[in-house]
Amino acid sequence: MNILVTGGAGFIGSHVVRLFVGQYPNYHIFNLDALTYAGNLENLKDIESQPNYSFIKGDITDEVFINQLFAKHTFEKVIHLAAESHVDRSITDPLAFVKTNVIGTMILLNAFKNTWKDNFSNKLFYHISTDEVYGTLGQTGLFTETTSYDPNSPYSASKASSDHFVRAYGETYGMPYVITNCSNNYGQNQFPEKLIPLFINNIINNKPLPVYGDGNYTRDWLYVKDHAVAIDLVFHQGKLGETYNIGGFNEWKNIDLVKLLCKQMDEKLGRKKGASEKLITYVKDRPGHDLRYAIDASKINRELGWKPSVTFEEGLNKTIDWYLDNEEWLRHVTSGEYQKYYQKQYD
Ligand code: NAD
Ligand code: DAU
Repeated sequence: MNILVTGGAGFIGSHVVRLFVGQYPNYHIFNLDALTYAGNLENLKDIESQPNYSFIKGDITDEVFINQLFAKHTFEKVIHLAAESHVDRSITDPLAFVKTNVIGTMILLNAFKNTWKDNFSNKLFYHISTDEVYGTLGQTGLFTETTSYDPNSPYSASKASSDHFVRAYGETYGMPYVITNCSNNYGQNQFPEKLIPLFINNIINNKPLPVYGDGNYTRDWLYVKDHAVAIDLVFHQGKLGETYNIGGFNEWKNIDLVKLLCKQMDEKLGRKKGASEKLITYVKDRPGHDLRYAIDASKINRELGWKPSVTFEEGLNKTIDWYLDNEEWLRHVTSGEYQKYYQKQYD
């Protein structure tokens, strides 16, 4: 079976590709990625010569190229992760998010539909989405699969739009699909623009830790390998036309998370207790900052038996160890363009 994974050189995609390549020798995994600033083939060095794996460099917004690719490989199943994924970047350049997340998804949907419209049996378009499409919660409550969409950032609006198109193609053309909406991921290979890897990198380098607003924003954190396992389960056992929420049952206020991170980093770096906390700096808030995300992941737990396998403390420990052991990876991704982005965002 030929499976197309888009965005497989990114953070979550690289964990999904590794899991599928290792677990399913009978599948051929084609990893299509444009290698934007967020894509990195170093993430997949250990599996790049596996016989059931191929990398294709290409852009999902290039319609001619995508149609040719489907004609050549007739992908029976697609796991679509490629996206612009960082909220802060969506605030400065929203159009880039519409191009990749909406138009790019449409181009893939059309190519998939046109390839299989006469026989959709045993085919699947699996769309990876986010809990941010539901907007924000107050102090209580959880997002369920039936919570209304209410996106607040250009990023979440573009993801919501792509979700709607996937569902519309299911209703209109009978296209077989599943969608999962996941909470905040963390773990190895995450680009250091997102909270946890950015702060790990800054602590290593004794740089300020820029906490937005008062730091009382809440996110639900999930270890990336647990997300990849959930994707595997939904891919094989998810009901067509359904949505599954995936989350860590693990809510943290940003400021509490940052303090835990500082504590673990001090221990690992042999610094004096409280040394890294001194780096915490409250900075201007993110515009339209969602107060709280929290996922009710009981459906995937009940129907597919999935639950997170590691506690947050364990996952964070493994994550910090990985960044400390992979300083070369960190050095490569934080050179060049990264410095320009950092200056624009934080200075
Ligand atoms: P990422 O930014 O780390 O990776 C995105 C990948 O997509 C990169 O490899 C990039 O090169 C590629 N890409 C971007 N534009 C492309 C284009 N036009 N054509 C082809 N490839 C392109 O993102 P991530 O954090 O791994 O997220 C993956 C998916 O999961 C996204 O759809 C995101 O919305 C979703 N998601 C992420 C999280 C999270 O916490 N990171 C949580 C829930 C859902
Ligand atoms: O909820 C799922 C989403 O989680 C995914 O769909 C997105 O792709 C992913 O980027 C993530 O979005 P967030 O905006 O929640 O993640 P981020 O790491 O950017 O920020 C997490 C929280 O930390 C948020 O409340 C903003 C805050 N923050 C972030 C950065 C980068 C800071 O206080 N300072 C920072 O420098």
